[in-house]
Amino acid sequence: MRETVTSVNHQAGIGLEDAAALSARFGEKSARVGVIGLGYVGLPLALLFSSNGLQTTGFDIDPSKTEKLERGETYIKHISAAAIAAEVGRKQFRATTDFSGLREMDAVLICVPTPLDEHREPDLSFVRGTAEAIRPHLRPGQLVVLESTTYPGTTEEVVLTILERSGLHCTPRPYRTDGQEVTGSLSGDDDFLLAFSPEREDPGNAIFRTHQIPKVMGGVNGASAIAVQALYAQVFERTILVSSSRAAEMTKLLENIYRCVNIALINELKLLCLRMGIDIWEVIEAAKTKPFGFTAFYPGPGLGGHCIPIDPFYLTWKAREYEFPTRFIELAGELNSAMPAHVVAAVAEALNRRKQCLQGARILVLGVAYKKDIDDLRESPSLRIMKLLEQQGAVVDYHDPYFSSLHKMREYDFKLSAVEPTAGALQSYDAVLISTDHSAYDYHFVVRHARLVIDTRNATHAVKEQREKIVRC
Ligand SMILES: NC(=O)c1ccc[n+]([C@@H]2O[C@H](COP(=O)([O-])OP(=O)(O)OC[C@H]3O[C@@H](n4cnc5c(N)ncnc54)[C@H](O)[C@@H]3O)[C@@H](O)[C@H]2O)c1
Repeated sequence: MRETVTSVNHQAGIGLEDAAALSARFGEKSARVGVIGLGYVGLPLALLFSSNGLQTTGFDIDPSKTEKLERGETYIKHISAAAIAAEVGRKQFRATTDFSGLREMDAVLICVPTPLDEHREPDLSFVRGTAEAIRPHLRPGQLVVLESTTYPGTTEEVVLTILERSGLHCTPRPYRTDGQEVTGSLSGDDDFLLAFSPEREDPGNAIFRTHQIPKVMGGVNGASAIAVQALYAQVFERTILVSSSRAAEMTKLLENIYRCVNIALINELKLLCLRMGIDIWEVIEAAKTKPFGFTAFYPGPGLGGHCIPIDPFYLTWKAREYEFPTRFIELAGELNSAMPAHVVAAVAEALNRRKQCLQGARILVLGVAYKKDIDDLRESPSLRIMKLLEQQGAVVDYHDPYFSSLHKMREYDFKLSAVEPTAGALQSYDAVLISTDHSAYDYHFVVRHARLVIDTRNATHAVKEQREKIVRC
């Protein structure tokens, strides 16, 4: 059951009328939606709008992606080609690199990357580039929504500033939310509307589908808030409006910082438990039985993915403007980024106990994706571990069901093809390192045939035989 939008305080200026008219068009599904950036976030979002009956156009600078989509093909494992082909076939969805079509859109959603630069500071070049690309095509009455994760203030300070160079205006004004009701100073002469709504996509999550994940949003003013909530209420089961775009930006960072800090905590406790001879995974399972006040986080070989290792540092950077040190974030970053070196030390120690050394040892790494059952290598700790192993003289091979070879990346250039983990192959390595616990692996088989197994994920927990070969770290 969808919660519906908006009881409006009618004291109105043009901005509010625009918002009400636009909201009505979203409700009638006669509005057109444009999504810029067709990656892990943008593509499922575009398909969600399209499959709910709104004409949707995806925009990307990468022609190989738009061409594939136009042919009804996919490039993301968990998004089926059939779903894309169905929407393209119904002419509900199309993809293009021609940004002039933005003018036709009623709502434009920005889903481009927000990485860190080489100094680990926010790299907003993609967001800026996209705002610049929208600017010549911006027209009165359009709603623009930033979805990319970023520091509080980006929507107003960066996107709004660039869009207003078009000569069209949207004025930030405070508004209040009371449940679904928007009140406060709603009047104004806005030409366009602007909001922020953080993406909460969790690739590979089989329990929550995109439309089931509650959608948080905040406008730069009340009219924008009304319009953005009307838009998302068409496709999400639940929408939550907060009182500003800055609060919405901060909400996303809180979620990711919470994960980052708790993962660091559990990683630190794992190191202590290893020394104390206590099984951290057993302890977590026991603690999980508490029906309130405890959420389980699991230790691993380090942080990965496009979000958790990166997003918290967007806030650290912004906090400097307020002369405020974000100590939890810094400490969590320090602890989490030390985990790959810990894994390598554990491999060396395990070999040492067998009178072998890392220098010249042959190691097979199982799983290079940053988490189980997904085809995403970004910031994967496995890659860092492989590099550290090589630096210490080990001969490293890998297998991952999602990557048949490893191509050159920004930081790594392994030039490796995947080695099938057959019985013979497993036996031929000095150690097999489980870095990502993909479901596709038969861990009984791995332990039976490997000489030594280093398990960073407790993937072998169900294996009862030959446990003396397993070292958990
Ligand atoms: N991947 C996730 O699980 C996830 C979850 C929540 C939030 N986010 C956030 O969502 C945003 C997008 O992440 P993603 O994982 O979808 O990234 P992605 O790299 O998978 O996709 C980004 C897409 O944007 C395109 N692009 C880059 N610059 C562009 C430009 N100027 N104009 C048009 N297209 C452009 C790229 O070609 C690519 O297709 C980031 O801010 C990220 O932090 C990601």
